Amino acid sequence: EQIKKGNYDHFMQKEIYEQPESLRTTLRGRLIPGDESKVKGVLLGGLKAHLRTIRRSRRILFIGCGTSFHAALATRPLVEELSEVPVTMEIASDFLDRRAPIYREDTAVFVSQSGETADTLQALEYAKSHGALCVGITNTVGSAISRGTDCGVHINAGCEIGVASTKAYTSQIAVMTMLALAIGEDAISTRARREAIIDGLLDLPGVVKEVLKLDEKMKELAATLMEEQSLLLFGRGYNYATALEGALKVKELALMHSEGILAGEMKHGPLALVDETLPIIVIATRDSTCSKQQSVIQQLQARKGRLIVMCAKGDAAIMCPNGASYVIEVPHIQDCLQPIINIIPLQLLAYHLTVLRGFNVDQPRNLAKSVTTE
Ligand code: AGP
Repeated sequence: EQIKKGNYDHFMQKEIYEQPESLRTTLRGRLIPGDESKVKGVLLGGLKAHLRTIRRSRRILFIGCGTSFHAALATRPLVEELSEVPVTMEIASDFLDRRAPIYREDTAVFVSQSGETADTLQALEYAKSHGALCVGITNTVGSAISRGTDCGVHINAGCEIGVASTKAYTSQIAVMTMLALAIGEDAISTRARREAIIDGLLDLPGVVKEVLKLDEKMKELAATLMEEQSLLLFGRGYNYATALEGALKVKELALMHSEGILAGEMKHGPLALVDETLPIIVIATRDSTCSKQQSVIQQLQARKGRLIVMCAKGDAAIMCPNGASYVIEVPHIQDCLQPIINIIPLQLLAYHLTVLRGFNVDQPRNLAKSVTTE
């Protein structure tokens, strides 16, 4: 086991650090950088024959559990933007509890690291029996979900041992970004946008390497939070998923109550919790929702909130002119890829909080890597 961990103390730590390489493997052979003879694009062999059907779907459903659900949520805005097909989000268990309506004209995308999660698998059987086109996004070749779907893409993140998913999450987002690009590849109006995203994907492993340098800072931040009872994370747009996923990492590993909140909902309840003691991470990196996050920061500051602001490098003075208790400055990348960068400091934060609080990093209590029963 020690050999497999290499120089790392835990599998989770190793898997966090593997992300530049796991993402490179996910992207390998799937990006066409473009030249005089070839248009910039993506190549997803497993989907090619079905892209026309997906484009013509009346609805796309993203179905998964836990971290896999969050990865799908992070890519929903881009899939809607490039496909112009409405995307609905379904947590597998809730989808089944409701026996939700689903039709032949729908495309259902099943996202699962293990490819064996019981609820996701049952949701797949249910969607199949209603005639929907079923697409699988998994990390496990030969898994029940990859065998049971009509077509799909493997994320190729490599084996993930830590119960808390890290590198699979970032690779799932990368694959689903490519899915959005593939669905939208016919549209002339979005060509420049798609090309910019492909350039961003080509740069991604390098930018991930850069954000990993925040490790020491996250350790410092963890030391200031280790005695806390609770941690809130506010996000919106592409980074609503980052808030949910960051909170999930903190609660499942560090056994600390943590909640990801859609910042647009702040005044509809969560604002009542704000005081000088409760730590709140506000994700305010650059995208179309940035100015709204700026105003969220101001409103939280007006209530003397204990703010930790995540913003793009160099933006601290603009995003929080009145200061914050801590600032996490991350490298900037295309808006739709920013969730891949933003989650990494939060993975590191959860990791250090867990070590400092003395809990089991790789095997959190009561949890299993793959949930194969209901
Ligand atoms: C992630 O850290 C969790 N351990 C958990 O939420 C996990 O993502 C969920 O059980 C889904 O698993 P899957 O991706 O293998 O389907």
